[in-house]
Amino acid sequence: MTTQVTPDQLDWDNIGFRYIDTGQSYRAYYKNGKWGEGEIVTDKMITISEASPAIHYGQQCFEGMKAYRTKDGSINLFRPDQNAKRMVQSARKIHLPPFPEDSFIEAVKEIVHANEAWIPPYGSGATLYIRPYLIGIGDILGVKPADEALFGIYVTPVGAYFKGGLQPARFMISKYDRAAPKGTGAAKVGGNYAASFDAEVEAKANGFADAIFLDPATHTKIEEVGSANFFGIREDNTFVTPQSPSILPSITKYSLIYIAEHRLGMKVEEGDVYVKDLDQFKEAGAMGTAAVITPVGSITNGDEKLIFHSETEVGPVTQALYDELTGIQFGDKEAPEGWIQKV
Ligand code: PLP
Ligand code: COI
Repeated sequence: MTTQVTPDQLDWDNIGFRYIDTGQSYRAYYKNGKWGEGEIVTDKMITISEASPAIHYGQQCFEGMKAYRTKDGSINLFRPDQNAKRMVQSARKIHLPPFPEDSFIEAVKEIVHANEAWIPPYGSGATLYIRPYLIGIGDILGVKPADEALFGIYVTPVGAYFKGGLQPARFMISKYDRAAPKGTGAAKVGGNYAASFDAEVEAKANGFADAIFLDPATHTKIEEVGSANFFGIREDNTFVTPQSPSILPSITKYSLIYIAEHRLGMKVEEGDVYVKDLDQFKEAGAMGTAAVITPVGSITNGDEKLIFHSETEVGPVTQALYDELTGIQFGDKEAPEGWIQKV
């Protein structure tokens, strides 16, 4: 259900993660082989052909990013060039015309600026979530890619994705697969998320925050959480994270790999993370734009449950990673070159 509210009616500390119509969105259309001028619209409804391949064949991709209010009142975007690039890769994978990277960043800045009143205040921990999407539209009946497309962006203020923010969450290993070994797992396409619903609904029905997927070929290795990548911290403080062609290349993950290595002096390993070896980790976490860093308190696999550090307290290494990442995002800590763009 859509909520009609104004920014001054929001309790920034308790807004949760849900859609709030901010009244202004961005749209641009691709037709006759080229992108038209984008514009800001005030209607959240979209009118498209009922025969659009986005509806029938899942020809769509999207991005997730955030705008952060800093202490001095300015607005930070975190590595928007990476989202722009990933959306081009996702678009290519499903044969949609890519939205140019420079135009993507410009459009994000324009729509964030227009919705500035909706950016939560510094210190609340809340942010403005930015959701760019690209969909295939037009009258297409047979199974083939669209030759028309819509690129849009909506924004909405959000708090923690997993309840409690830095409170550890409990996860369960799913028996379902999210993506095939040579499929679309590395692209941010809606089909991957529809494919994850069985697992997600089952996990939530059993009292877990979300499901963890295993590699679809052997079901022996951790892939990722339904909405975030996974990391574990070894006793010697090595930051370990799965490498797989069927997981989303998380921008948060690559940022944390850099932070762990260059800011916290940790060793980093990207590779296979076997379920049988999960007990090597003293701490574990889920990382992503929405999840930020959510401590993985425990993982349940059938009848077995493994606790990492604690189910109620965040571990010290996870806390240090969180402080460094969010410090950079909110402008309290110096950012590596090119990571922050001002709106
Ligand atoms: N994995 C999945 C399935 C996701 O939906 C997300 C969220 O975007 C991530 C990982 C984390 O990616 P990022 O850090 O780029 O937000
Ligand atoms: C994100 O972290 O931006 C995501 O896309 C995760 C989820 C909300 C789909």
